[in-house]
Amino acid sequence: MNRPPRFDLTVNGRRVELAASREATLLHVLRNDLGLNGPKYGCGLGQCGACTVWVDGVAARACVIPAQGVAGREITTLEGLGSRECWHPVQQGFEDAQAAQCGYCLNGMVMQAAALLAREPNPSEARIRSELSGNLCRCGTHVEIVAAVQRAALAMAGGADS
Ligand code: FES
Ligand code: FES
Repeated sequence: MNRPPRFDLTVNGRRVELAASREATLLHVLRNDLGLNGPKYGCGLGQCGACTVWVDGVAARACVIPAQGVAGREITTLEGLGSRECWHPVQQGFEDAQAAQCGYCLNGMVMQAAALLAREPNPSEARIRSELSGNLCRCGTHVEIVAAVQRAALAMAGGADS
């Protein structure tokens, strides 16, 4: 029996060596091999955003990325964004704006929004909406989610009201 090939990833700042089949997705490896359950399995088709992670700082859908295809790259998951002791401002914004119902979309919303604010610290409401338009929320908390991202942008600019 052929053993799956081994390869390296850097995940949340830590170098890890993995073995995975050519078909294994990045999401599968993160959740099942590394126990990182921040990224969620939603559609599995790249269409809902629940599985969003960063690859070299760019938001990407882990459910459709072959794990071997990102060998050697830098992966950041929700677990690497902030810590329990010190949340990322976007996480704090979601808490303050009470922008969750079931919470299933939140990983993707937070990772996508944090990537936006890293590139564009002061996005307009229209820009936030457009950036998050591919992230689905079945609970309809979009108004609160936009408010959460606006709070985070304000906090990151040093004008936090939270
Ligand atoms: S689970 Fe990856 S986009 Fe839906
Ligand atoms: S809060 Fe339930 S899917 Fe967004």
